[in-house]
Amino acid sequence: MGKVILIASGKGGTGKTMFAVNFAATLANCGKRTVVLDMDLGLRNLDLYLGLENNVVYDVYDVMTGLCKIKQALIPDKRFENLYFMAASPNREEGMLTPLHMKVLCRRLAEKFDYVLIDSPSGIDDNLVLASAGADEAIIITNPEYAALRDADALDREFLKLGINKRWAVLNKVIADMINRGFAPSLQEVSSLIRAPLAGVIQFDENIHISTCLGIPIVLKDDTYIRENFINIANRIIEEKEEEVGLK
Ligand SMILES: Nc1ncnc2c1ncn2[C@@H]1O[C@H](COP(=O)(O)OP(=O)(O)O)[C@@H](O)[C@H]1O
Ligand SMILES: [Mg+2]
Repeated sequence: MGKVILIASGKGGTGKTMFAVNFAATLANCGKRTVVLDMDLGLRNLDLYLGLENNVVYDVYDVMTGLCKIKQALIPDKRFENLYFMAASPNREEGMLTPLHMKVLCRRLAEKFDYVLIDSPSGIDDNLVLASAGADEAIIITNPEYAALRDADALDREFLKLGINKRWAVLNKVIADMINRGFAPSLQEVSSLIRAPLAGVIQFDENIHISTCLGIPIVLKDDTYIRENFINIANRIIEEKEEEVGLK
């Protein structure tokens, strides 16, 4: 059985979708069969960040309501051998999708894939309960600002209530100069404000922003510090020490 990992944040715009796309691409590049699901049902944009918006026929909603088979909604990303994506529905009929639907879908996907990644909506509400229903683990994406860190910790507590005990935090959009000048919390301060262990730090880099606008995962580019960083983060999260050398 594969692992189901939710990618979430308390505050919006912290970089969940950017992380989901590049984490998925990193795992796929290393031979892990990976699927990434867009569960940000109202505000989907995973399709755009992957540049696959024109390939969507069926979506998560169609699968969960039985309109199509799982296979029909799995969109292959042809740039990778092992990467698939399932789109969110633009029009969600409230109440039609239940956590049980989600749990069953995750279990079925985990039979076929090594990693099932879920791009979650921001915040702590029913949408989070739905998105997290089948998750084994969670990665909280946060930023070096007090509001985002407080929200990350509130989300972390919610995960414990939901029974998701294995959590990670990723600090995104870090600007070293801001920390040095005392305008952003230091890494020690960040670690003291959130309980989930830090799996990594991602710098604020305009190339990351450009890549999401172009629909090209930044890790597709060889020999960059960003790609190297994603490999290190992935190694920490998947914890398969004996396979670490495989993640290159
Ligand atoms: N490390 C980064 N450096 C620069 N821009 C980033 C970085 N991470 C995310 N962004 C940009 O921030 C915006 C929000 O990111 P996104 O992944 O859509 O957030 P979320 O899914 O959490 O709402 C996007 O425009 C994205 O390109
Ligand atoms: Mg998003």
